[in-house]
Amino acid sequence: MTHQIALNFEDGVTRFVAANAGETVADAAYRQGINIPLDCRDGACGTCKCFAEAGRYELGEEYIDDALTADEAEQGFVLTCQMRALSDCVVRVPASSEVCRTAQATFDATISAVRQLSDSTIALSIKGEALGKLAFLPGQYVNLGVPGSEQSRAYSFSSLQRDGEVSFLIRNVPGGLMSSFLTGLAKAGDPMRLAGPLGSFYLRDIRRPLLLLAGGTGLAPFTAMLEKIAEQGSTHPLHLIYGVTNDFDLVEIDRLEAFAARIPNFSFSACVANPDSRHPLKGYVTQHIEPKHLNHGDVDVYLCGPPPMVEAVSQFIRDQGIAPANFYYEKFAASAA
Ligand SMILES: Cc1cc2nc3c(=O)[nH]c(=O)nc-3n(C[C@H](O)[C@H](O)[C@H](O)COP(=O)(O)OP(=O)(O)OC[C@H]3O[C@@H](n4cnc5c(N)ncnc54)[C@H](O)[C@@H]3O)c2cc1C
Ligand code: FES
Repeated sequence: MTHQIALNFEDGVTRFVAANAGETVADAAYRQGINIPLDCRDGACGTCKCFAEAGRYELGEEYIDDALTADEAEQGFVLTCQMRALSDCVVRVPASSEVCRTAQATFDATISAVRQLSDSTIALSIKGEALGKLAFLPGQYVNLGVPGSEQSRAYSFSSLQRDGEVSFLIRNVPGGLMSSFLTGLAKAGDPMRLAGPLGSFYLRDIRRPLLLLAGGTGLAPFTAMLEKIAEQGSTHPLHLIYGVTNDFDLVEIDRLEAFAARIPNFSFSACVANPDSRHPLKGYVTQHIEPKHLNHGDVDVYLCGPPPMVEAVSQFIRDQGIAPANFYYEKFAASAA
């Protein structure tokens, strides 16, 4: 039996390798062209030390304390020359992808659907045989090449990959390069190139309640995460607060309702900031965070949206005097170009 190991490098690049039964993660990576820094390969030097963020594995008893202390092993540090996976795993490698002589993967595909959900939001799906091999962690993003230009833009997956198809939720920025392409020229069958997956904003093992906070198309990574949670289940409460500026920015409510019907512990609320809104729930995301959602700090918070929203919500949580057990965020920064 093989297990998928996601190797997350310091520069945000993720590569997936398949580890055979009994094979060490370092050997599996090497076999697939990725050189995790190694020295002794014997559990003695500690050079191959990484951090296991998710999954089950065994380290055996062949390594020495100088290479990995019991305390480190308890925290989740691993020696990849000793680590044998017992399930799919996510491993953070403290080196750049370049040092490990691996590169961001690129995939050629075609647009399978492009649909304007509202004036401000576009749903895009891309399909291709090559994408059948695209593995990513829900919450991650890719760089999509803008057809007819040398430029690319970052977009978070809004779905899991199914039969070589992936989807995105894209804000229509007036005059923007990708926005203009998608609202003007794009049609099914157009070629599109993807590079990735990338990013450290992804769903970890669910060990406590989750509070998910989305601003605008910052909803995208959460719908991918919810697809995953719907498949694997969760025994912990999960609450999403989705905030937008105007009524027409509010999209995918049907999909969220379907998740709420399918995932027993999942609830959500959606709010609109514009005071003239006809939506029943008004205001900013922060106005709808209740003490029970922060659970005295025993909560993992995931936050995604435009940079000012991410700053405001982070500040709000700090002001509550509560430090969540884990706090992950993604800012949808405008491209430098
Ligand atoms: C890690 C990451 C993940 C992202 N994921 C998503 C996603 O899932 N969905 C999504 O919609 N976007 C996402 N973005 C933002 C996305 O990459 C683009 O920046 C955005 O879609 C604009 O691209 P464009 O080519 O249409 O506009 P551009 O040609 O890049 O911009 C045109 C003009 O608009 C300004 N501008 C760009 N974006 C904004 C904005 N949001 N608000 C106000 N002005 C802006 C620019 O500064 C520029 O002046 C993500 C960004 C990052 C860094
Ligand atoms: S390479 Fe020396 S401990 Fe793994």
